[in-house]
Amino acid sequence: MSSVEVVGVVGCGLMGSGIAEVAARSGCDVTVLEFDDAAVKRGLDRVRTSLDTAVRRGKLAPEDGALALSRISVGADAGALAGCTMVIEAVPEDADAKTSVFRLLDEVVERSDAVLASNTSSIPIMKLAMATRRPEHVVGLHFFNPVPVMPLVEVVASLLTGDDAVARANRMATEVLGKHVVRSQDRAGFVVNALLVPYLLSAMRMLESGFATAEDIDAGMMRGCGHPMGPLTLTDLIGLDTTMAVAESLYEEFKEPLFAPPPLLSRMVDAGLLGRKTGRGFYDYPAQVA
Ligand code: 3HC
Repeated sequence: MSSVEVVGVVGCGLMGSGIAEVAARSGCDVTVLEFDDAAVKRGLDRVRTSLDTAVRRGKLAPEDGALALSRISVGADAGALAGCTMVIEAVPEDADAKTSVFRLLDEVVERSDAVLASNTSSIPIMKLAMATRRPEHVVGLHFFNPVPVMPLVEVVASLLTGDDAVARANRMATEVLGKHVVRSQDRAGFVVNALLVPYLLSAMRMLESGFATAEDIDAGMMRGCGHPMGPLTLTDLIGLDTTMAVAESLYEEFKEPLFAPPPLLSRMVDAGLLGRKTGRGFYDYPAQVA
């Protein structure tokens, strides 16, 4: 592609650090805005580990790994996003938090043609667009975890998103990052989570009711249907808090009982059993707390 975007990422969690990594690997300079020092450290560690893995697996030349890392700068100064041509918001799945980020971006991003994208898993893009004075530049750019490995991005236009923003988001995902794009209308959950999350919730209901063990539910879907991970292991990877937030957005939008979070999920989130990132979810991950 002829002009590479100057990329900003808001949030250095699992998704934000992954997005920053793939953008930097593709030659973009990336400025990450993150206010929490501990999240900055964890995020940069994650990027380093992933780049090392990519080099070890022969997916990346060692010198390109070092170059990618040098293209990422992380800090707590929102003003550093002023010159970005594309900012991708990747803060936790909370509508108020995301709305505040879009209000902030509207203030600090100086380029009037900048694309303001959200990596939301489930919140309608229109809600975020209306927090800005430039809804025509707001678009959904939804990545999948782990971002450096999963080849899909959903591109979501709201009723007010302009063709230019959609085209640039699409070009970023395909030509720059090398991902496959699917388009979705601006409905909670978009294509993938609207299909995936009811399945994950069904697995939890099955476990909760004593229908089968966690191991057998997961083995059933891996060995019987060829899925790379069973639904409970996958929920641990996604994070139970994120899965719960997506389920709530879907339930709020469609009012279908199949989207309602089961009590087991609510209790585990209350207990801080959020999956791999906290060391315990449906399974234990003693070495993974970071
Ligand atoms: N950079 C580049 N490539 C990497 C890499 C890295 N950091 N780490 C691994 N890879 C490559 C490997 O080299 C390998 O490539 P190959 O197939 O060409 O050999 C491939 O990625 C798989 O890596 P591994 O062999 O280490 O891993 P596994 O085979 O154990 O698979 C997994 C791990 C990819 C996570 C697989 O279990 C999987 O696909 N699980 C399902 C994940 C999923 O469904 N994610 C979506 C969640 S939903 C979501 O995110 C949406 C949100 O809104 C909730």
